[in-house]
Amino acid sequence: MSAVMSPSSSTDTAWRELHEAATVPYKKGGSFAWHFARGKLGRDPVFRGLLERGLIGAQHRRVVDIGCGQGLFASLLASMSVMQKQGRWPASWAATPERADYTGIELMPKDVARAEASIGHLLPAPRLLCADMCSANLPDCDLVVILDVLHYVDLEAQEGVLVRVRDALRRGGNPQARLLLRVGDASSRRGFAISQWVDRTVTRIRGHKVSPTWGRPLAEWNALLQRLGFRVQSMPMSEGTPFANVLLVADLDPAA
Ligand SMILES: C[S@@+](CC[C@H](N)C(=O)[O-])C[C@H]1O[C@@H](n2cnc3c(N)ncnc32)[C@H](O)[C@@H]1O
Repeated sequence: MSAVMSPSSSTDTAWRELHEAATVPYKKGGSFAWHFARGKLGRDPVFRGLLERGLIGAQHRRVVDIGCGQGLFASLLASMSVMQKQGRWPASWAATPERADYTGIELMPKDVARAEASIGHLLPAPRLLCADMCSANLPDCDLVVILDVLHYVDLEAQEGVLVRVRDALRRGGNPQARLLLRVGDASSRRGFAISQWVDRTVTRIRGHKVSPTWGRPLAEWNALLQRLGFRVQSMPMSEGTPFANVLLVADLDPAA
């Protein structure tokens, strides 16, 4: 008798396959790139969380990933597209872009070099820009992803980035344009302090000159995004970790 798969076991299997496929390219980037990709994709709940909640839609073709590190999100998008073409996509997962046009923006040249070495050969080729998010040109787009990055710059600079993100999404002209922003909730003191400590340690090891320090309570993030013309939903996104991370799903408000 053949076993009947429950929806969660079929998504578990699909997620394992996706994890494998999205991390394989990093073997080309060397041992650090590969181990980092496997650990990050496996342990950080955000990537699977985005998928399971259907937050990356097929209509989000032009993607800008700010503070992209070694470009893991590009590899994930490419692997998702392959699995869908091969008909191995769980029915409970919404379709993601068939052929994402990805731009990653990253300050650290070493990360960009690792990304190039690992995923530079993917098709369509991801655009990987070594630039400061505070001044980089943002292309017209459908989806902007900023995961754990804005706290590297002060509050005024954070707002400046978000204004330029909003303008890039508006110029893109997609009525379903979306920003996926993960931040720490500074009102949750313990979790926020732990993530700051971890971030500062990692940042020092990676040779960053600036320490990631600037946070806001969740209510202030929501108020800022609404003031800039987004409709916002927030969801906890640090399951299985000691952090106080929150994912803000911010859609352009057509009425704004
Ligand atoms: C905690 S890591 C997150 C990486 C990636 N978003 C992820 O979730 O895997 C933060 C990244 O933001 C980058 N970053 C910090 N300040 C930046 C800036 N001003 N412009 C562009 N990238 C920046 C860091 O170099 C680092 O790669």
